Amino acid sequence: MTPGDRRPWLPVALLLLQVPGCWCLSGPTSVTGTVGGFLSVQCQYEEKFREIVKYWCKSPCLGDIVKIEKSDKEVRSGRVSIRDHPANFTFTVTLENLTEGDAGTYRCGIDTSWLPGYMIDLTFRVVVSVTPDISPA
Ligand SMILES: *[C@@H]1O[C@H](CO)[C@@H](O)[C@H](O)[C@H]1NC(C)=O
Ligand SMILES: *[C@@H]1O[C@H](CO)[C@@H](O)[C@H](O)[C@H]1NC(C)=O
Repeated sequence: MTPGDRRPWLPVALLLLQVPGCWCLSGPTSVTGTVGGFLSVQCQYEEKFREIVKYWCKSPCLGDIVKIEKSDKEVRSGRVSIRDHPANFTFTVTLENLTEGDAGTYRCGIDTSWLPGYMIDLTFRVVVSVTPDISPA
């Protein structure tokens, strides 16, 4: 094996560094919707995060963060809604009335940065694509 063979593993190593020993949050890496339609994203978390705030935001996540506290209630912000399902450790984000401007990179997140041993929030990257409505008028 030459040193070059190891290169493809570098991104994996970086990922593991960010989330030490833990595959705590996952979801779809990409979802596609149609202009005017809606799409849903389900992110799964580990049972130990059941009581922790979950959120959804558009990268780089500086504003427009939709958060949900521990509860079954739906939280809505404009065309985005988020609902936690503690019974099966998932939370669902729905984007309605999609526009092409909704396309981009988003993140499912868990507010873990204040927990001992984490330092950062756990996030999962989801690429959202919005295709034009091609149904006959
Ligand atoms: C989506 O669009 C429909 C029709 O224009 C409107 O009635 C509805 O309130 C919109 N939903 C949201 C969440 O903006
Ligand atoms: C979790 O439960 C919710 C509400 O019952 C359901 O809509 C969703 O599909 C479930 N997700 C999984 C991964 O089982």
